[in-house]
Formats: sequence, C-alpha cells, structure tokens
Amino acid sequence: MAVIREKQGAAHTRIMGVGGYVPSRVVTNDEVITWIDSSDEWIRTRSGIAERRWGTPEETVLEMSVQSAGKALAAAGISGDQLGAIIVSTVSHFHQTPALACLVADRLGTNGAAYDISAGCAGFCYGVAQASDMVKAGSAEYVLVIGVERLSDLTDIHDRGTAFIFGDGAGAVVIGPSDTPGIGPVVWGAEGDKYDTITQTFAWNDKPEAEDGSDEVRGPFLRMEGQAVFRWASYQMAEVSLKALAEAGITAGDLDAFIPHQANNRITDRLVKVLGLPEEVPVARTIAEYGNNSAATIPLAMERMLADGTAPSGGLALLIGFGAGLVYAAQVVALP
Ligand code: COA
Repeated sequence: MAVIREKQGAAHTRIMGVGGYVPSRVVTNDEVITWIDSSDEWIRTRSGIAERRWGTPEETVLEMSVQSAGKALAAAGISGDQLGAIIVSTVSHFHQTPALACLVADRLGTNGAAYDISAGCAGFCYGVAQASDMVKAGSAEYVLVIGVERLSDLTDIHDRGTAFIFGDGAGAVVIGPSDTPGIGPVVWGAEGDKYDTITQTFAWNDKPEAEDGSDEVRGPFLRMEGQAVFRWASYQMAEVSLKALAEAGITAGDLDAFIPHQANNRITDRLVKVLGLPEEVPVARTIAEYGNNSAATIPLAMERMLADGTAPSGGLALLIGFGAGLVYAAQVVALP
C-alpha cells in the first residue's frame, strides 16, 4: 500500500512585521454622554477610556484590513503573492459569505488559502497560534493574520453598559519561518457555559418586531454582563497569563512588554499585579485612546508600542486576548 508523503515546515516561527489602522473620527466621552446617563469621570475611572475611534462609512472592515495588511507586509519585507494563507478574525463583517479574508486576498493579489475566524477579543491570538502551526507544519510559508472590527456598527448608543466601550480599527501581522523560537506555545480555551455573558441582541436573519409594532428595530447590537465578564477576566485570565509564561519557559522578569487585550484598565492592573510584573516592563494601555477594539486590539497596541519606542524590537512580549464566547488565548512572542 502506498504511503502518504507528509510535509515538514519550519522548526521555528516569528512575527515578521506588524501594521495597524485606526479610523480618523475621534469619539470623545463628552459625545458618548449625550447618548447615555453617565459622565466623563465615571467612564475614565471605571474603564480607563478617554476616547475611541469610530470609522466613517468609507473606513470599512475591508479598507481597514487592507491598510493594516499593507503596513505589516512592508514591515516584513513580504509581497502579497508570497502569502500562503490569510486569516481574518472579526465579528463585524456582516456577510456570512464570502469571507472577508477572500476580499482581502483579492486586494493583495494572492491566491493562498483565505478564511475568517470568529473568536471575539481572543481572535488575534487564536490567529497567531493557527498561523504559527501552519508554518511549522509546512502548509504555508508566510501567513497574514488580521484582527479587524467596526464595533460601532454593533453598538447600541443608548445602552449604558456598552455604549462607551468599543472602538473600530485593524491590526495585522505576517508570520513566517525563523532560525530561533519567536512564538511560544499557546494557552487557549473556551468556557462555553458562559456564552450568554456577551451576546448580540438577535440573529442576523431574525429581525424581531419593534415594541410599537413598527419595523423600526435597530441592531443587532452587543450586550454584555459587565460585572460577570470583569470578574472572569480578572481572575481566570491571570491564571492563563501565568500558564503562558510557564509554557514558554520564562518568567515575568524576562518580559520586555505585556500586551493584554484592552477591555478595562482595572483588569489590566490586576493581571500586572498577579504576574508580579516588574515596574520597568511596559504595559499596553491603548484603551485610553482607542477603547476596546476586540480582535484588533493587540496588534494595534503592538504596533504603537514599537513605533513610540515603548517596547523594543526583538524583545519578548506576553499577549493575552479574552472575550465573547467566552474564549481566551495567550502566548509569548518575540516582537518584530
Ligand atoms: N455611566 C455611569 N454609571 C454607570 C454606567 C455608566 N455607563 N454603567 C453603570 N453605571 C453605574 C451602575 O448603575 C452602578 O450604580 P450603583 O452602584 O448606584 O448601582 C455602578 O455604576 C456600578 O455598575 P457596574 O455595572 O457594577 O459597573 P462596573 O464597575 O462593573 O463597570 C464595566 C462596568 C462595563 C466598565 C465593567 O464591568 C467592565 O469593564 N466589564 C468587563 C468588560 C470586558 O472585559 N469586556 C470584555 C469583552 S470584550
């Protein structure tokens, strides 16, 4: 009987380049409090958010993806036609088919594999894990991972629990072979029993009737049980962060940056504390100006910390994403 020939990819992988795109329109807390009963002070102290960016109609998930991908490819020194695969993580591409990744592939001029994943705010770290494994398995030499969201489209501006939280944007990385280890083991999982803590108000194909009987229903919108998610993130994600360090065989003192998902500054504070992160290690705090960009958060923060010199190129960073599902993923990476 014939034996199937297998393929072997690279021994190690790394992030070769990162790029980000944030929309031009700044939405301040003062604007938000014209929609909900709140205050600039409450939003800043309870979440850490001072402002967020919301896309104009032209700043679509496709345009933002292409912009961030172009920057990541240029930084990596790779052209679109060298990509073996494109993975796009998003919950705000409103077509079930075709995948946003295929539209991006068309714009970049590549015929590599292309598909979307839905893993909420953990989506970028999920994508990095998949891409790294593909390069190691030999199913692609270079993989583009994009996290992109237009959460403004999913935000009910009259909902006090979510109106102030979300922002739009895109971030991308190119992952490829490396001579030395550049992406540590992923610690990931899902707690599906908590699926109902972050939801959308109704399914895309299920437009309910308005209470007054008209067809004026807007949405679907995101809804969140803030306190439950806050508690889960503060406690379980601290454990996951520690596990990711242990799996990579390093300690918090070896880190050159900590880039957690930006859901709430108080969650970040708690993770920093439990990790015992030395004071000199820079911590992503993009939530102040970008809000929570879900899958786009981590690559956006990574690009910014490298661009402003807060984090060193080649340094070790702990990434952790967590959110709707509930799902999570964390890994240690070498910064591009
Ligand atoms: N403005 C002003 N006051 C508000 C408010 C708002 N937008 N929303 C709630 N409040 C009030 C509540 O009515 C409550 O008042 P009370 O004490 O008089 O009853 C008080 O503030 C505290 O409400 P609570 O819901 O406990 O707020 P919180 O401290 O949990 O903060 C979040 C709310 C959303 C900022 C916080 O829960 C959070 O960040 N959750 C996690 C988000 C997250 O991780 N998401 C990840 C998914 S991507």
